[in-house]
Amino acid sequence: MAGDEMTEADRRTSTPTSGDGHGSEAWAPAVVLRRGEVADIPALLAFWAVAGENASRPADDATMVENLLGRDPDCLLVAEQAGVIVGTVIAGWDGWRAHLYRLAVDPGCRGQGVGRRLVEAAEDRLRTLGAIRFDAMVLSENALGAHAWAAMGYRPQDDWTRWVRPA
Ligand SMILES: CC(C)(COP(=O)(O)OP(=O)(O)OC[C@H]1O[C@@H](n2cnc3c(N)ncnc32)[C@H](O)[C@@H]1OP(=O)(O)O)[C@@H](O)C(=O)NCCC(=O)NCCS
Repeated sequence: MAGDEMTEADRRTSTPTSGDGHGSEAWAPAVVLRRGEVADIPALLAFWAVAGENASRPADDATMVENLLGRDPDCLLVAEQAGVIVGTVIAGWDGWRAHLYRLAVDPGCRGQGVGRRLVEAAEDRLRTLGAIRFDAMVLSENALGAHAWAAMGYRPQDDWTRWVRPA
């Protein structure tokens, strides 16, 4: 089979981008999930700059991501389409609690279930490690994030406030 032809497996996981539902659709390449690697760091930083929620948080930098992967090489999940990163989530497990960070989907790929797939894969990983609860930090004014987390079964804890101090 030629390299640019689509396999049956690809077809099952691909997304129709147009058409009448009777065979005339243009098919987008499948979105696949994989582990993020050190080699992805430049692409990840560029991706988060446009797709992430970047307000009120420390800036990302390559050393921090490299340290994260050095400590937990399986924690960063990437959604990729045709070799391009279109989504991420960090499934952080410190041995005690499970935290989800850096959930982000390319603006052009939103609303197609990529965010949900990433979160479900992250939850599977964290459950296997022993997590009994997942948590995500969501800025109060982040309506997009709030919609997505709520749709995935998350609720704000009104009796807790996050307290922070610069290190
Ligand atoms: C939040 C984000 C990751 C969601 O990604 P996504 O791929 O669009 O999400 P999905 O398509 O998997 O949708 C997941 C659920 O959220 C709901 N949802 C997503 N966007 C929504 C919107 N704009 N309005 C209402 N519901 C929405 C979907 O309906 C879906 O629920 P369903 O499966 O029951 O239909 C994406 O909007 C994003 O990258 N936002 C910017 C970064 C950000 O804010 N991240 C969260 C930080 S806390």
